[in-house]
Amino acid sequence: MTDQAHDRLLIIDFGSQVTQLIARRLRELNVYCEIHPFQTVTDEFLADFEPKAVILSGGPASVVHDGSPRPPASVFERGVPVLGICYGQQVMMQMLGGRVEGGKISGGGGTAEFGRAYVTPENQSPLLEGWFDDGREQVWMSHGDHVAKIAPGFEVFGTSPNAPFAITADPNRNFFAVQFHPEVHHTPKGAKLYENFVRLAGFGGDWTMGAYREEAIRKIREQVGDKKVICGLSGGVDSSVAAVLIHEAIGDQLTCVFVDHGLLRENEADEVVKMFRDNYNIPLIHADESELFLGELDGQSDPETKRKIIGRLFIEVFQKYANDIDGAEFLAQGTLYPDVIESVSFSGGPSVTIKSHHNVGGLPEKMGLKLVEPLRELFKDEVRALGRELGLPPSFIGRHPFPGPGLAIRCPGEITREKLKILRQADVVYIDQIRKHGLYDEIWQAFAAILPVRTVGVMGDGRTYDYACALRAVTSVDGMTADYYPFTHDFIGETVTRIINEVQGINRVFYDVTSKPPGTIEME
Ligand code: XMP
Repeated sequence: MTDQAHDRLLIIDFGSQVTQLIARRLRELNVYCEIHPFQTVTDEFLADFEPKAVILSGGPASVVHDGSPRPPASVFERGVPVLGICYGQQVMMQMLGGRVEGGKISGGGGTAEFGRAYVTPENQSPLLEGWFDDGREQVWMSHGDHVAKIAPGFEVFGTSPNAPFAITADPNRNFFAVQFHPEVHHTPKGAKLYENFVRLAGFGGDWTMGAYREEAIRKIREQVGDKKVICGLSGGVDSSVAAVLIHEAIGDQLTCVFVDHGLLRENEADEVVKMFRDNYNIPLIHADESELFLGELDGQSDPETKRKIIGRLFIEVFQKYANDIDGAEFLAQGTLYPDVIESVSFSGGPSVTIKSHHNVGGLPEKMGLKLVEPLRELFKDEVRALGRELGLPPSFIGRHPFPGPGLAIRCPGEITREKLKILRQADVVYIDQIRKHGLYDEIWQAFAAILPVRTVGVMGDGRTYDYACALRAVTSVDGMTADYYPFTHDFIGETVTRIINEVQGINRVFYDVTSKPPGTIEME
């Protein structure tokens, strides 16, 4: 595989919905880990990967059924600590000489258990350091089958009313097996259990951003050689961090293209271009194509039509500029780890579903470019940490996400230059208010939108007939679900007054308190 600059932990995935969370917990402990579907983990793979420890994830299958997923037996012969979770526990017991019985779901008569449960201790184990201070621990169970007989060498360390083998271990071989899911937040002390496991396995917490940066730079140089790379900059954190990292690796072999589609926020194009030109000296093409985009969007009000026009034009424009870059063979993208983790497919034989996120959709195939994706192994917060490590300004790293189609999807219905101008001004006042009140970092994303409706108002002694504006602010972890941010009434009152006083063209302001679902974060 690769040479190893740091200790590696292997997570063998049996298809649990929460396998990614195991990786999160481990990364938080500065432990480098990779998730691989069980089908791809062979003896050769293990020999090549050289894990310092292995975790067997949960999964939906039943070990009592023929053909159910298994890790290679050599996992247990490498002399490294192994932790089995839920299905991982059962597979471990079955393969090492214990017995598993089917529960209600898999057609057996045993006891299934879903949801909150409490485990009490049976024995002391270094795995359980910091546990049971109050006599019992809350854990999250989600299993149909259960272990009926533990494998030789194993002892019981914790039980729950429905799981007599909730925590078992073979202390001599450093094998641990738990029936519950320590990675979910309903197992409040689960992180401590992972911490104990990696300590026992001898991990030194060497997964630091400094180490990652060095290694990523080496890999980029190896992959690219003396060829050229182009990178589409959006002004967002991911593409910016990718660009700065690649530039550190290959210098002027990288050219960035920043396409200004005329749908950016106030001063955004200048800020992004200035940030790059002032700080990094990266060859940067600032493609001002606002006339083209706004021209083609003129008169269009259907949300999907607007998105499609923007997507098509973006590719055309990027291609136009990229064609001028002689010898470009690679396209850089800020793809993150959650986008590339292979998820296990039980029905489709050996094939696995790979989620691959192409920020510049369609381009690599069309232009015959190879991809450089130096953030593929990182989660979003790790990208921010890498950005700090690379010296990107903190204000830039902490920016709220901004969508590719830009203000187009915050201007429902037809887009006009007048509306965009009003929207930009309202957004400036709103974000200024949020910053002034020290709320920016508490909020996942906040923005103003201009509604396709005018209403009557009275200002001074005169009648107004102006646009209505909506304010949105949400809390979220990943943008998949979201809740509205609970501003105080005072904050809302003050902000609405400022917007109406300072922005000509708006005489009414709404605060959107819709969660996602049923709403979405953006308006279109
Ligand atoms: P929605 O509106 O779907 O948005 O709840 C979820 C998150 O995704 C962002 N978003 C986009 N980002 N291209 C992007 O790069 C897009 O087409 C796009 N649409 C929505 C949105 O800002 C929010 O953070």
